[in-house]
Amino acid sequence: MSQDAVTGPNAQVRDVYDRLGSLLDRGDEVFIEEGPGLLQAAIAEPGFFDGVEPAPADSDHYTREKVAGAPGGHVIRFMEWPPGYSLVPHEHHGRPCFEVLVDGLLHVVDMTAEQVDEEHYTLSILDCDVTEPGEAAVVDPRENDIHAVYSPVRSCSLHVYPDDRSFAYGYELDEDASDETDLYRRERFELHDG
Ligand SMILES: [Fe+2]
Repeated sequence: MSQDAVTGPNAQVRDVYDRLGSLLDRGDEVFIEEGPGLLQAAIAEPGFFDGVEPAPADSDHYTREKVAGAPGGHVIRFMEWPPGYSLVPHEHHGRPCFEVLVDGLLHVVDMTAEQVDEEHYTLSILDCDVTEPGEAAVVDPRENDIHAVYSPVRSCSLHVYPDDRSFAYGYELDEDASDETDLYRRERFELHDG
């Protein structure tokens, strides 16, 4: 993963990046309460997308292009999701994050996990947000730390994370151990850059 600072391709992006940082300075709660609206307003302004493009996603993986971010700070990433793609249930280190959909359609399924033995968990669905362009979905670890993502069509979304980690924890179905109940293992997985 690159640790390089990316200060943003235009003044509007740099401005919203700084304002998101000011929200984070006031705490995670303020960040998720006010951050989505701030980004939604910013992307509606002409010129915001000058120099802002996702990396093209091939058919079997999504991409995560860094739009603005500094080492140790928050980050804005532009994701592109291939058609019919699902990202396994995962969690982000107990911190909140949010996305604003730019193009396409994205399902964000909130889940909860229950540990049933030393290495297995069951997952239950809490809720599902279907975001259309201009709409936001929030991951608030106080309510929905674990989430899966599904893109029925090619989709692009801007994501803001309070820190730029190179890995997350995902829940992988253990087919050998699953019988009547689906059992998952919690595994660390690497997030590729770009
Ligand atoms: Fe996520």
